[in-house]
Order: sequence, then C-alpha cells, then structure tokens
Amino acid sequence: MSDDECHELGNLDDLQDGGMQVFEDIGDYGIVVCRVNGELFGLEDNCSHADTPLSEGRLRGHQLTCPLHGTSFDVRTGEHSGPPAYEGVPCFKILVEDGVAVAFPQEDSAKGDEGASGGLGDFFQTR
Ligand code: FES
Repeated sequence: MSDDECHELGNLDDLQDGGMQVFEDIGDYGIVVCRVNGELFGLEDNCSHADTPLSEGRLRGHQLTCPLHGTSFDVRTGEHSGPPAYEGVPCFKILVEDGVAVAFPQEDSAKGDEGASGGLGDFFQTR
C-alpha cells in the first residue's frame, strides 16, 4: 500500500461513541468517520444513490442512514441495505497509532460499480 492511499486524521479521542466527524479534504467527497462501541469506521461521505452527504444522516449502531431517501450503509463494510441505493459506498479502515488516527481504503469494501465515476475508488486508482 502506498502512502498516497492513507490519510492522517489526527487525534479522535474527543469523538464520542455514536458520533461522526467529517474530513472534507479526502477524495472527491470526503469521508465520515464514525465511532461505534469504541471502534472507528470510515465511509465515503456520499450516498451512492444521489450524491448526498451521509454525515447528515443518522447513525444507529453500525448503520448510517442517508438523510434523503433512507438507505442505510453498514459502516464496517460500506454495504447498502437496499433500494433506492443500488450499491454500497467505499469504506475505510481506521487505525490509531500513538493517538493519531489514520484512514486506509478497505480493499474489500462494497464500493460502487466499476463503471461509476467520481468516487474514491477512481481517486485511488488514478494515483
Ligand atoms: S440519496 Fe441516499 S438513498 Fe437517495
């Protein structure tokens, strides 16, 4: 994995359980980092259905629900719960070393269709 693929997020100790924090300067849409049961997870902050920030939705357990039409995405895998979204979103593994969180693209995430453009998958493939 190259350094281009990882993103330093800083110290996230203040992020409460059930909370979310957005990092807008990563990829085309940014990522939303969620803390669930003490663990950190990251998703591309963009619903695969109609380009809506998922960070404006509601986090319940591991499910982040889109504010516009209600599809939920599993923050552990990026998988979607069903229509109207027809695919998942890219997700990130968040590791913490010496108090600093770093996001890595999760290779097996349920990121979108190969033909889609503008997502983080394209961002990483072109670097
Ligand atoms: S924009 Fe998210 S489900 Fe429609």
